[in-house]
Amino acid sequence: MEPLQKSDKYEIISELARRRGFFWPSYEIYGGVSGFLTYGPLGTLLKQRVETKFREFFIKPFKMLELESSIIMPAVALEASGHVKAFREPMAACLECKRRFRVDHLLRDQAEMSDTAAEKLSLKELAAEIEKLGVRCPECGGKLGESNYFMTMFETSIGPYSEAVGYGRPEAAQGIFVEFKRLIEIARGKVPFGVVQMGHALRNEISPRQGPIRLREFNIADIEFFFDPKEPHCPFLPEVEKDTLQLIPAEVKRKKTDKAIQVTVKKALEKDYIKTEWQAYFMVLAKRFLKTLGVPDDKQRFIEKLPWERAHYSKQGYDQEIYLDRWGWTEVSGHNYRTDYDLKQHMNHSGADMHVFQEYSTPRKVEETVVSPVPAKIGPTFKADAQKVVTLLSKANAKEVKKSLDEMGHYMADAFKILPEHVKFTNKTIEETGRRFIPHVVEPSFGIDRLAYAALEYAYGKKEDRALLRLPRELAPIQVAVYPLVSKDGIPERAEQLHKALVKEGFAVEYDESGSIGRRYARADEVGTPLCVTIDYETLSDATVTLRDRDSWQQVRTKVEDLSENLKEYFDYKRDFEALGKTI
Ligand code: GLY
Repeated sequence: MEPLQKSDKYEIISELARRRGFFWPSYEIYGGVSGFLTYGPLGTLLKQRVETKFREFFIKPFKMLELESSIIMPAVALEASGHVKAFREPMAACLECKRRFRVDHLLRDQAEMSDTAAEKLSLKELAAEIEKLGVRCPECGGKLGESNYFMTMFETSIGPYSEAVGYGRPEAAQGIFVEFKRLIEIARGKVPFGVVQMGHALRNEISPRQGPIRLREFNIADIEFFFDPKEPHCPFLPEVEKDTLQLIPAEVKRKKTDKAIQVTVKKALEKDYIKTEWQAYFMVLAKRFLKTLGVPDDKQRFIEKLPWERAHYSKQGYDQEIYLDRWGWTEVSGHNYRTDYDLKQHMNHSGADMHVFQEYSTPRKVEETVVSPVPAKIGPTFKADAQKVVTLLSKANAKEVKKSLDEMGHYMADAFKILPEHVKFTNKTIEETGRRFIPHVVEPSFGIDRLAYAALEYAYGKKEDRALLRLPRELAPIQVAVYPLVSKDGIPERAEQLHKALVKEGFAVEYDESGSIGRRYARADEVGTPLCVTIDYETLSDATVTLRDRDSWQQVRTKVEDLSENLKEYFDYKRDFEALGKTI
């Protein structure tokens, strides 16, 4: 059970969400299973709107590629990526009350052992520490049993063979990395380019108790942005470098303060708070994106992960946090510099070549050291094999030969031991047409469920004691509600007609004729419907309707024939409410 708090916004939103069909805990009829959430009709639409906005904001302007890969992944891929090792927690059960606890947390809470120190210990060593330090069950004081790893990925078998282990993907990113060879072909071999995957991911969280904030099955949007590490400049930086970020870089965090510093993007890069330009760029975009969802600047910040807090693939990581009423600062996106870690791991495990070849716009002259055999010395040493050795040395990599001779005094060309006198090194100028390398990656990764919840929490407000969701126009699940003023005299028929016409024009429209018009307006406000159209007796005579604004409750009168065009402009933010008709 979640602790009962006095009507914080989470409680209010959860109640509204359940009642009006945004979301609710899954499997309620069987008592519920924590960590799973069902989106109802309005929630499904809201989530879709957030995803559409995400596409408009991040994917389309940068011509990123979007893909959908499978949720079940074979063990081999997640072993390669390092997740099989990283996604496990040491746990021990109390021998008395049988409750299970994370051993690293017990050692931290009862013996002040740091998480890093605990992380380094094997299961045996953890058990020994528990014994030595007298760590006991925090609930009943009982003795703790053996420690075991608890895998936080959902494990399954693929097909009828139990040895064919599969896991539910813990992130969408891996579906991108394993398909990199095809994706780079589609991108015509050119970096930088971005690939996005949105979809479900699974993590068997130990005790998720935070509604849509911590789920076992959640919606993620991972952007993997590939770039040349030797050309890491982001050309769009001038557009954002004056933007400010509220930042808690590692050096500030180490001072045990969580007071953010306010810096421009330019300064954050100069000071090396953010190590890559692309990452800084996406952090600004993430801040702007959250603002469009309704989260103001001062309720957002970025906090750097300390080395031991970072994911195993990350060289630098910032969490974008927003302030939520119940939970305080809460992560909504993570920004990690993943380097070439993932592509290299998959290359080493699968044998697939993950290099890209980037052609220069004009060939470049480069100095190169070449190694050549010295036949006069090779003949007497290798006799009948001399020709073979000459051939091998002509193909050898000069750098490798030199390194081996410098470090070990010899170089092995197959089974032949080459000594310094057998080769000579010369420098020559060659024309290079391009370069082969494994791209580096920055990853902005968003929790879609958290974004949808944040939009709801920040939209929630009251007007004259009535609940109102002031959702941005493009996020509202229902754009327009069509209401007949009364249920007689041909008015519902006229309203139905208008409802159909607006649906045909592509609007998300609701038709409702039950209850007083005031109650219907209140219901529309509560689910964030920006506009209501009311059909009355006047409509029948002069083909005009009343439009009502959710936020101001103002009303204007407009002609039916102008409605569709005007509404389009309103939802494109090209027209304000007052410009939709004549004020009444
Ligand atoms: N791909 C982002 C994450 O795993 O959090």
